[in-house]
Amino acid sequence: MHLHIYKDEEELAIALANWIEVLIRKTLEVKDRFSIALSGGESPKKLYQKLASDPYREKINWGRLHIFWGDERVVPFNDERSNAKMGYDNLLSQVNIPTEQVHSIWTDIPPEQSAKQYEKILHQYFDDKQTTFDLVLLGLGEDGHTLSLFPGSKILQDGSSWVNAVDSKEKGERITLMPAVVNRSSAVAFLVKGKNKAKVLQNILEEKEPQNYPAQVIQPLNGELHWFVDEESAKYLKN
Ligand code: 6PG
Repeated sequence: MHLHIYKDEEELAIALANWIEVLIRKTLEVKDRFSIALSGGESPKKLYQKLASDPYREKINWGRLHIFWGDERVVPFNDERSNAKMGYDNLLSQVNIPTEQVHSIWTDIPPEQSAKQYEKILHQYFDDKQTTFDLVLLGLGEDGHTLSLFPGSKILQDGSSWVNAVDSKEKGERITLMPAVVNRSSAVAFLVKGKNKAKVLQNILEEKEPQNYPAQVIQPLNGELHWFVDEESAKYLKN
């Protein structure tokens, strides 16, 4: 595990954008494509805006990127809660990625059907490969959830599915990637910011309560695990 702490949200977004740009460039030196799963929520917005602006907009070979989402809220695309909309508004609408390489999670069909359909696409992409995604971007909830894997959710027992539909009383209907596909990625990067995440980040990274938090289930088998955090969220971490 690699922990990267930055002064504030601005420095965090720039550092992660730099790290992603280098990872993409290095990967495309040896592979024909780079597959990335975008995270939702509020935290990655500034990162996406950075990637959509120079120098990253200029430097990144967008034509060879394949875009996926880590999870989605079952709302229409034009709904403010849509992770796909947030990704398009802050990044994808400003860079040239062939539409057939952008795989948003369908929310206009029953969630179970959409989960199966998305799983099928992922198997088509990755079944004959050693690893799955080249990078998965993740956020962290104050309750220790990541993706739409919420504490106490029964799907956490599912060690084989790659995608599942979730109906959380608190968070509503969701469709989410599962640890089985995320943990076969080459790299996973959590982006965490704000003092409201400090307690749970300490509990997770200092393993005060092992495996009590869904985010702790994300342990790449052969890939890298990175935590990019700001000083506010890292305030309780031992140096
Ligand atoms: C979602 C996300 C979720 C998010 C965390 C953190 O769709 O909501 O995938 O896992 O990353 O809830 O959200 P914030 O960045 O908004 O705090």
